[in-house]
Amino acid sequence: MRYAILDCDPGIDDALAIFTLLAEPDVEVLGMCATVGNVPVETGYRNLRNLAALVGREDIPVFLGAALPLVHPYRFDSLVHGEDGLGGASLPESAAPHTREHAALATCRLLHDAPGKVSWIATGPLTNVALALRLDPSIHEKVDRLVVMGGSTLRGNVTPAAEFNVWVDAEAWRVVAESGIPLTMVGLNVTHQVALTQEDYAALRAMPGKAAKVSDRMLDYYEGVYRREGWGEAKLHDVVAVLEAVHPGICSTVPCHVLVETSSPLTYGQTVVNDRIQAEDANCDVAMGVDAAAVRKRMLSAIASF
Ligand code: BDR
Ligand code: CA
Repeated sequence: MRYAILDCDPGIDDALAIFTLLAEPDVEVLGMCATVGNVPVETGYRNLRNLAALVGREDIPVFLGAALPLVHPYRFDSLVHGEDGLGGASLPESAAPHTREHAALATCRLLHDAPGKVSWIATGPLTNVALALRLDPSIHEKVDRLVVMGGSTLRGNVTPAAEFNVWVDAEAWRVVAESGIPLTMVGLNVTHQVALTQEDYAALRAMPGKAAKVSDRMLDYYEGVYRREGWGEAKLHDVVAVLEAVHPGICSTVPCHVLVETSSPLTYGQTVVNDRIQAEDANCDVAMGVDAAAVRKRMLSAIASF
């Protein structure tokens, strides 16, 4: 059995990543945490609770996390994921009792209490993750590795330099990159290779289950945004990170040294990836390739299973 904790900002591709993770038979998800990012954190927390309930997993504790990035100002923009973060997919309200513990504290507790090492997965800004690492650096010993969706070896998507999750809270990313935790970065250079085909969309539309209906509605919205904005096919960013965490090797990785820009107004949030280093100087395994067909196939079969 593998143990996992997910930190996220749902978010349409986060929601697809959640379905993908919860369908894994050999992974016990110890908790799921919401952070500020695609939507204000209260909206993300609500989405996370409702997504878990939709697939019958109200037993997994869900925690409310950071309302604001560590330093950088936050401004909500509904363009990519909609006002509700799920492209208007209006989910039934979860009846699970609310938790009271902050996500960063809950993460520290869950890691310490875990029966084995944990795959920590982050598909949003790293604010909660950085807070947890600062509150209690001893959690390192319980983390198998932290797999994050964020950054890029190439260009960004919010600015030419910065990818969204890093741009929201570059200081948090820097805390994490400098913490010494075993870190895997799944950035835009690989996630931009992963989008559904027309046949995949048709297969999804034909699936009878609740998760499939919701995924179809969300992807309809998400795909429309990508098309209207001229960004090409809708990319499944967060699904790639979750699958690399639970099926290591679905991405090929290279040990690198990653620095995060936090001072320049021009390139704030840029991940500067150096692969010309000695192995002992690496602080991050950076995804350089991905088996896109395997990601699409695993995501679709996960959605079909609910
Ligand atoms: C990342 O930004 C968010 O909009 C997505 O959910 C993903 O985590 C991609 O840059
Ligand atoms: Ca996300």
